[in-house]
Amino acid sequence: MSRLTILQYPDPRLHKVAAEVAVVDARVRAIITDMFETMYEAKGVGLAATQVDVHERIIVADVSEERDEPLVLINPEIVERSVECKEWEEGCLSLPGIYDKVERPDRVRVRALDAQGQPFELDAEGLLAVCLQHEMDHLLGKVFVDYLSPLKRKRIKSKMLKRQREAAEAA
Ligand code: NI
Repeated sequence: MSRLTILQYPDPRLHKVAAEVAVVDARVRAIITDMFETMYEAKGVGLAATQVDVHERIIVADVSEERDEPLVLINPEIVERSVECKEWEEGCLSLPGIYDKVERPDRVRVRALDAQGQPFELDAEGLLAVCLQHEMDHLLGKVFVDYLSPLKRKRIKSKMLKRQREAAEAA
């Protein structure tokens, strides 16, 4: 197992569109293992492969308090979404310390493959619904700040770039 580097916004690689996973094999399971290690270490509730510069449709998540309910979704798609929407304060491991409100459908039904390549469907609401939609956006090259106003996004981008410059100078 190894921990992977999480791309930091505004890294252009966060906007790449991920490809479908053709075969769920040992190679894919090794990526999943590393993604879980990376996500748990960073104390995140979800991580998309895009964020670790792997441009394949793979998501890992765990929204449980105890951090003992790992979820793997390969080639996920939303098959149903509620009309009702809800606003949540979202954050992202690619933008540490940045939080803002995003409105999304309150409930979604997602179809995906598990780590064995078996199809399953999942009804999600609340935090899990937000998390899965947020991570699925990553696979499409979309980051949550893309929902914010251009002005807010510009401010966040400057803040992130400044932080990255400072980190590079300190190194
Ligand atoms: Ni994210």
